[in-house]
Amino acid sequence: MIVLGIETSCDETGIALYDSDEGLLAHALFSQVDMHVDYGGVVPELASRDHIRKTLPLINEVLDAARRNLSDVDGIAVTAGPGLVGALLAGTCIAQGLAYALNCPLIGVHHMEGHLLAPMLEENPPEFPFIALLVSGGHTQLVKVMGIGQYEILGESVDDAAGEAFDKAAKMMGLDYPGGPRIAALAEQARKHEGTPYRFPRPMTDRPGLDFSFSGLKTFTLNTIQKIEQMGSLTEQDRTKIALAFEEAVVDTLRIKCKRALTSTGLSRLVIAGGVSANKHLRKVLENLMASMGAEVFYARNEFCTDNGAMIAYAGCQRLLAGQSEGQALQVRPRWPMDELPPLRKELHDVHPHAQ
Ligand code: KG4
Ligand code: ZN
Repeated sequence: MIVLGIETSCDETGIALYDSDEGLLAHALFSQVDMHVDYGGVVPELASRDHIRKTLPLINEVLDAARRNLSDVDGIAVTAGPGLVGALLAGTCIAQGLAYALNCPLIGVHHMEGHLLAPMLEENPPEFPFIALLVSGGHTQLVKVMGIGQYEILGESVDDAAGEAFDKAAKMMGLDYPGGPRIAALAEQARKHEGTPYRFPRPMTDRPGLDFSFSGLKTFTLNTIQKIEQMGSLTEQDRTKIALAFEEAVVDTLRIKCKRALTSTGLSRLVIAGGVSANKHLRKVLENLMASMGAEVFYARNEFCTDNGAMIAYAGCQRLLAGQSEGQALQVRPRWPMDELPPLRKELHDVHPHAQ
């Protein structure tokens, strides 16, 4: 089955063609970052308008790259939520129109399920069951994954998402949006050279449970910056030191909670997904943790950690193959708890948590 995937939930237009027999045929991405950078974050109305401009040309580009025509498409997968409502509507309206014209099935994909399944596009995909750490700009969650659509949320952020904290801390330091890669680059410099004199808190790690909180780290960052500014202006060296302390605090917090989730469930596979899973230091720290626990960590290639059409085409293809589809009644869901998704196959319910 050949599925056209469309992702427009935030500020990237992502398109892909996935074949259940041959794998990923082609994909393309247009990032709106240059347009939003002047505003220090995503402007929803501008995002929607740009998705409208870019989606059809990108679909043509992907079809050309895959040497396929629209008539070869057997199904359409589109992100239906969570995300910005206008941006989601841009993608879903185009998807509905195409599904109607091609008379093919349409499936609305949950954006975070797309992220969660993105490592399945890699050469060594994880087997179920596993623990997923979803770390993006809008979500930070630990999920016990028994199969596609069998998600138990073990913990989540009670305030900001990890990526959001990276973006906000970067803004305070005068760095451009999106802040995650910029903080990561500065942290890397500091790690190689002078290190950092600062130690930022590891929020909510001193009490039991798997929830996260990142808004306090933001305040801590602001206080640190303000103290430095009382003595003079913030230098490039100050920025690298703060970036390192901030990144270490976020990564260490995530490491502590991942270890807890694996220990409490007895599972031995960890999937990290979402934009922050592109962070090199996070990957390295979790790889070391997994090695010490005799467990394995899985993640997607960098371009499939952040938003993309391939993960939506893949997730949608699995659901379409299982016979799920929306008809023409597709509704966008700006808020959509992932544990409300239907399981793919009923019998997977019976898999014992320790069966691996
Ligand atoms: O998954 P994503 O592309 O979009 C959402 O679904 O939110 O994630 C975007 C987030 C942004 O907050 C961005 O700063 C963060 O991922 N990010 C990173 C890195 N690359 C992207 N954060 C830390 N280190 C990175 N290398
Ligand atoms: Zn995302």
